[in-house]
Amino acid sequence: MRAFVLAVLMGALLSGCRRQEPRPQEGASPAPQATSPSAPGAVLFISADTRGYLGPCGCSENMRGGIGRAAFQVQEARKGGQPVLYVDGGNSLFGETHLKPDQVPQEERKAKALADALRTMGLAVRATGELDDTRGADFRRSLGLPEVASGGVKLLDAGARKVAVVAAANAEALVQASQQARAQGADFVVGLLDQPLEAAQAAAALPGLAANLVVATHSAGEFSAEENRLVRSDVPVVAVQSKGRSLLRVDLTYAPAKGPFVLQRSQGDVDREVAALEQRITLLDKEINLPGVDPKLKGLKQGKRDELAARKQGLLTAPPAPATDVNGFALRFLPLESNLASAKDTQALVTAYDKDVGQLNLAWAKEHGQDCPLPAKGQAGFVGSAACADCHAEATTVWQGSKHHHAWETLEAVGKQHHLNCIGCHVTGWQQPGGVCRLDKVAGREDVGCESCHGPGSKHVEAPSPETLVGKPGQAVCVTCHNPENSPHFDFATYLPRILGPGHGRPEKSGQAGEPPAK
Ligand code: HEC
Ligand code: HEC
Ligand code: HEC
Ligand code: HEC
Repeated sequence: MRAFVLAVLMGALLSGCRRQEPRPQEGASPAPQATSPSAPGAVLFISADTRGYLGPCGCSENMRGGIGRAAFQVQEARKGGQPVLYVDGGNSLFGETHLKPDQVPQEERKAKALADALRTMGLAVRATGELDDTRGADFRRSLGLPEVASGGVKLLDAGARKVAVVAAANAEALVQASQQARAQGADFVVGLLDQPLEAAQAAAALPGLAANLVVATHSAGEFSAEENRLVRSDVPVVAVQSKGRSLLRVDLTYAPAKGPFVLQRSQGDVDREVAALEQRITLLDKEINLPGVDPKLKGLKQGKRDELAARKQGLLTAPPAPATDVNGFALRFLPLESNLASAKDTQALVTAYDKDVGQLNLAWAKEHGQDCPLPAKGQAGFVGSAACADCHAEATTVWQGSKHHHAWETLEAVGKQHHLNCIGCHVTGWQQPGGVCRLDKVAGREDVGCESCHGPGSKHVEAPSPETLVGKPGQAVCVTCHNPENSPHFDFATYLPRILGPGHGRPEKSGQAGEPPAK
């Protein structure tokens, strides 16, 4: 719900960008313009705020993201005749600034995999932020990636023009660095600001800023960059959807004579069609992810969804019209949709990481793992779902028929039951007294058990009464796991009936309004 409100809000903010427009006719999509591959220009790809993500968790259908998909986009563009530069804005290697000891092996391994992936993508340069230095600046430097220091300028060849990438931690430093870039002969200047969108907007309004584009590379929090955002101010400002879910593509087109670059606005029709397709895809995603949706219907909708996504992709990757008498640049976000291909070499790095990390984590747990702390005096601890079955047979049967009952199997099926960034929501009592605190001791706490919702049960088991447990868990407990990233279509009213049944919060002869058909 919150995400929806935000999206609507953004629509109002981005005048002209996300305006509701009548849906174009089916099949009206313009064929990609035929430009000669050697039309003068260059393509820049920019990623930022990746927050230690190699890919999405697969918790919902059609999740965006994946470094392999990003690499494929860059690889494809390199097949054209134009120079292609890939730039990373930073805050990409880690998801947090502080790690617990058990996370260190996994997160260092992941940062290395990300660094290797950026290299296979032919990274030209990257900026760094606090989410690159979680393991210290020495660790970051040991990865050997090309970097532009904060306050610095990196000049890159882009065919007949020079592109500068400048990085800064604050607006004043960005202004200075952008002016230095011009003094060094840059024709097009990309400003990477290690700040959220709002700060980048303020920077873009400063007199003296000599950048053509400002990229906000550090969103304020884990869920504060769920969407791509473009503000068409005099100096356009962008924030790319976090966690590697989208790329920014900048197409530069060169006129015969050098001169200032102008943001191309002639893309209006394409932008509108892309926005309309996006709306239809979002609606389909909601239907596809509806708990208990009929598999056949789901398959049909998925087919339609993939078709629309492919059409959108075609529009997004078609080259813009070549410049005639002005130097132009076009900005497009490339959402890394689930139906897009991955680059084989990059994806192999992800597969190798997936394979290693479970073993690494398990070995660490066996050697250094600590059991869970005891409950504080007077507090309850977790005891596991088996302890509830005798007295709550009916509720147990209902639970066993729900997806929560096999949440652990779900991880085993993809070989990720020992990944620290998966286990937390797929077991009962993660890092709680009586719960799961080490990967080599999960037995009895697999799955999303009774206590995941009703709270730790040791006191209730000793003295059964409605007072010793949470009787009616509400939405607040669901969204600790059903968050905007892992369960973007979560809606309490639709999801709740799917976990209830006779003896579990629903009378024997049920007939609740809004209840989905039993399946
Ligand atoms: C401890 C984390 C956690 C909590 C708390 C939690 N869930 Fe879940 N939920 C999951 C996981 C993980 C899955 C997927 C399980 C699987 O299929 O492997 C899931 C799946 C579901 C599904 C099935 C969705 C589908 O696509 O069919 C429903 C419905 C659901 N949860 C409802 C709820 C409701 C309602 C609450 C709160 C009252 C809640 N959950 C609380 C983790 C949680
Ligand atoms: C923040 C909590 C959370 C984390 C962390 C998490 N999951 Fe999930 N997972 C969920 C929830 C909630 C669902 C159910 C989503 C829904 O149906 O809306 C789910 C569902 C799934 C499903 C789909 C199950 C089905 O029935 O189709 C898979 C597969 C899955 N998760 C794998 C993973 C993997 C792999 C990781 C680690 C990379 C992971 N999850 C990390 C909460 C989480
Ligand atoms: C020894 C039997 C026994 C065991 C074991 C037991 N319960 Fe209960 N439970 C009860 C009784 C008795 C009640 C009170 C019923 C009443 O007063 O309506 C109750 C009530 C509840 C309620 C309803 C609270 C409310 O507000 O209405 C929930 C939820 C619950 N138990 C969950 C659990 C869970 C989860 C476990 C396992 C951790 C568990 N119970 C283990 C006997 C047991
Ligand atoms: C995903 C969250 C979730 C899980 C897991 C879960 N419950 Fe519940 N349970 C609820 C909710 C929500 C209600 C209240 C439903 C209502 O009355 O609106 C409830 C109600 C109950 C009640 C009261 C039943 C009634 O009809 O008044 C009992 C008893 C209970 N649960 C026991 C269990 C036991 C035992 C398990 C494990 C076998 C379990 N629950 C697993 C969310 C959960």
